[in-house]
Amino acid sequence: MTTSLASCALSLLLLLSLQYHSQASDTLTANQQLSENQKLISQDGNFALGFFQPAALVEGSNDKWYIGIWYNKIPTQTIVWVANRGKSVSDPVSSNLIISGDGNLVLLANHSKSPIWSTNIKKNIANSSTKVVLHNSGNLIVTHDSTNSTVLWQSFDDFTDTWLPGSKLSRNKKTGVIKRMVSWKDRGDPAPGLFSIQLDPDGSPQYILLWNSSIVYWATGNWSGNAYTGVPELSPTNMYPNSGYTFQFVDHHVETYFMYTVKNDAQTFTRAILDVSGLFQTLVWTNASQAWTTFFTQPKAKCSVYGVCGENSKCTENDASSCSCLKGFTEKYPENWKLDDHTAGCRRNVPLKCGNNSSMKTKQDRFYVINSVKLPDDAQKIDAANVRACELTCLKNCSCIAYSYNGTCWFWYNHLMNLQDNIGGSTYSISIRLDASELPNSGTKKWWVTIFIIGGLIVLCFGAAILYFTHRKQRYINGLNHNDGSLINFKYRDLQFLTSNFSERLGAGSFGSVFKGVLPDATIVAVKKLEGFHQGEKQFRAEVSTIGKIHHINLIRLHGFCSKGPMRLLVYEYMPSGSLDKHLFGSSTTTLSWKIRYQIATGIAKGLAYLHEECRDCIMHCDIKPQNILLDASFVPKVADFGLAKLLGRDFSRVLTSMRGTIGYLAPEWISGEAITTKADVFSYGMMLFEIISGKRIWNIQRQAWEHFFLWWLRGSFLKEKCIHCLALS
Ligand SMILES: *[C@@H]1O[C@H](CO)[C@@H](O)[C@H](O)[C@H]1NC(C)=O
Ligand SMILES: *[C@@H]1O[C@H](CO)[C@@H](O)[C@H](O)[C@H]1NC(C)=O
Ligand SMILES: *[C@@H]1O[C@H](CO)[C@@H](O)[C@H](O)[C@H]1NC(C)=O
Ligand SMILES: *[C@@H]1O[C@H](CO)[C@@H](O)[C@H](O)[C@H]1NC(C)=O
Ligand SMILES: *[C@@H]1O[C@H](CO)[C@@H](O)[C@H](O)[C@H]1NC(C)=O
Ligand SMILES: *[C@@H]1O[C@H](CO)[C@@H](O)[C@H](O)[C@H]1NC(C)=O
Ligand SMILES: *[C@@H]1O[C@H](CO)[C@@H](O)[C@H](O)[C@H]1NC(C)=O
Ligand SMILES: *[C@@H]1O[C@H](CO)[C@@H](O)[C@H](O)[C@H]1NC(C)=O
Ligand SMILES: *[C@@H]1O[C@H](CO)[C@@H](O)[C@H](O)[C@H]1NC(C)=O
Ligand SMILES: *[C@@H]1O[C@H](CO)[C@@H](O)[C@H](O)[C@H]1NC(C)=O
Repeated sequence: MTTSLASCALSLLLLLSLQYHSQASDTLTANQQLSENQKLISQDGNFALGFFQPAALVEGSNDKWYIGIWYNKIPTQTIVWVANRGKSVSDPVSSNLIISGDGNLVLLANHSKSPIWSTNIKKNIANSSTKVVLHNSGNLIVTHDSTNSTVLWQSFDDFTDTWLPGSKLSRNKKTGVIKRMVSWKDRGDPAPGLFSIQLDPDGSPQYILLWNSSIVYWATGNWSGNAYTGVPELSPTNMYPNSGYTFQFVDHHVETYFMYTVKNDAQTFTRAILDVSGLFQTLVWTNASQAWTTFFTQPKAKCSVYGVCGENSKCTENDASSCSCLKGFTEKYPENWKLDDHTAGCRRNVPLKCGNNSSMKTKQDRFYVINSVKLPDDAQKIDAANVRACELTCLKNCSCIAYSYNGTCWFWYNHLMNLQDNIGGSTYSISIRLDASELPNSGTKKWWVTIFIIGGLIVLCFGAAILYFTHRKQRYINGLNHNDGSLINFKYRDLQFLTSNFSERLGAGSFGSVFKGVLPDATIVAVKKLEGFHQGEKQFRAEVSTIGKIHHINLIRLHGFCSKGPMRLLVYEYMPSGSLDKHLFGSSTTTLSWKIRYQIATGIAKGLAYLHEECRDCIMHCDIKPQNILLDASFVPKVADFGLAKLLGRDFSRVLTSMRGTIGYLAPEWISGEAITTKADVFSYGMMLFEIISGKRIWNIQRQAWEHFFLWWLRGSFLKEKCIHCLALS
């Protein structure tokens, strides 16, 4: 009876305490604790603090819990701070976040007395009236007075991988303390990873990105008064006026720091992070798409991030997934690889024999050659008279895993890092040591067998080629003669043939590279290889057929498409005069006459108006800029790349922001998070109109003046929606 009463009272008490916390307060005081699913929530409800598990948890580690702060109003888990980065607790029920007797905020696990994590405030500073408050800025502050003004400790001083508006990544000149932001270990593990960003310890007013705290792979360049020399786009005058962003670089006798703030009433969430891929990025939450949009990324060249692809892999710039394992190697952690984190690198499939068991006549290791590369780091110079000697010396030493010979013999021992592939103009090649079973057989056959086989193959190929070409020609001419407006579904092999194996590159747009091709009836076409594409085949066909039905004199015409495995290609009509930007800013010797400029401006407007209002499904372009306007032989403008924004879905934001300068044409609502409508295209069109008239890049002109004027112009009610129409009608 008494025991049941006691347990009843106990559960009631528990219930009450839960009740207390579920009314989420923003303050934790000395006699309270946080456990299980209890949270602190900032007054405006934007941030929450409590136990969490990373969304991208690696399988088999679901007993890892952390204390952290996240955005409370966003459906995508977005952690901005983690207390116990490297030391998880196994379950939140037996763990507590409390204020200890000495006034520190501590995390206790498994009912133990010794904390797993503590704020480590010095003794005698904190006392029993200490409390912890989660502020609207996302800052967790330990204080002990009623005005919240004495900061004993704050999470803004304890950086993880996120830089929130208002916090200072500083260097203290008196104590020498440098604050660093350190990336997560991988997407499922907040433990400190290999990449960090901090102020230059040499005292230069610049931030540097480091690998393993030792190798600098990117620097902002010195602060020049209103921007960093290496990042001119990140300056207040380059941002939209009234966007609510302010930047401040402070360098006085006590400390140096940079800080950015976002005007609160904008109701937008902005954060800067150091990603597990080593990239420093600034992201804005966009309500319209319910996703984070990246609007700033450095370094621009992904392959320049030290160790971005880990060991035994190669990095290819301008490729959607830029890391790939070398032949004979496989991803070490395929799960991480899928999450765009390649830093763990690749491992060997078959161990090297390395001359072992040579008495047993087993095959020696062999070499696999990769041409046009940037050689990996940490090469060792070896004395060798020629390439053969270089190879033999490498074979003899079991630690040698690759060599390169360019007059000097270079060896690599144990691991290969930062090998970059497909460097135009590079004469370097590297030979990678592999077990013989990884490479096709040769050498052991008698010479006449080889000759016989080669001879046979040549005869066969010849015959096949003749058959193939006659057949192909027939089919094309048939295919094209249909001429009923339907799209051609090309085979990848055919496109390879038509473009001479993608040899003549016309350019690289935001969605991929474009190559010149010739159809059998001598029609010239532009073949676009889409990058960063993750849609299924069915959806791709549906979207492409929508685009294919759109015909307008000012819109580029789609001839056909190709979809093979993960590859997606689009075949467009070819525009001999190239893109508008070449004529406006490029090396082109003839300047466009006013008549032509007028024809271009109205033509684009007609094309856009058709896309927005006259098609069956209204299409937003989302990326109007001179690079996407093509000109035919008589300078009739054609809008290119329409419909691709939808085709690429969310990844579009990545493409959009990876293009330098695109931001100049972006409507403010991309950043402010308001709904994106066709008006965003109108804004970009307006920006472009300025360039057509002035012949100068919007980027380079006194931006603020232009934009003030432009925003005023666009907001003028009489022009707001009509500007396309009036131009189109005139
Ligand atoms: C908690 O501590 C007890 C004894 O101190 C131990 O037996 C148990 O395994 C611990 N549990 C966890 C999850 O660490
Ligand atoms: C705690 O310390 C602060 C400043 O040192 C002091 O103002 C406050 O009265 C102290 N509170 C208690 C309960 O001792
Ligand atoms: C201090 O913080 C608490 C919790 O957010 C808040 O209720 C209180 O009004 C604050 N006091 C002052 C003087 O700002
Ligand atoms: C950057 O500033 C530091 C110190 O102010 C100076 O020594 C250095 O030469 C500067 N670097 C460049 C590239 O101007
Ligand atoms: C990072 O540096 C430390 C010492 O400076 C070294 O022990 C460690 O192996 C390095 N990590 C990697 C992944 O190379
Ligand atoms: C070769 O064999 C020896 C012992 O038989 C072994 O210790 C060594 O690791 C082997 N080397 C390789 C590359 O497998
Ligand atoms: C080498 O020979 C030993 C026994 O003689 C055998 O155990 C081992 O697997 C062989 N190693 C290789 C790589 O063939
Ligand atoms: C192989 O290379 C390593 C690294 O330079 C060296 O220490 C070792 O002595 C070499 N072994 C032989 C057999 O040459
Ligand atoms: C070979 O490559 C090294 C390293 O890049 C370079 O310093 C050297 O000049 C090259 N030698 C020749 C003969 O090209
Ligand atoms: C975004 O959505 C949130 C929640 O629906 C809302 O509170 C906020 O005002 C919206 N922001 C903008 C800029 O529309």
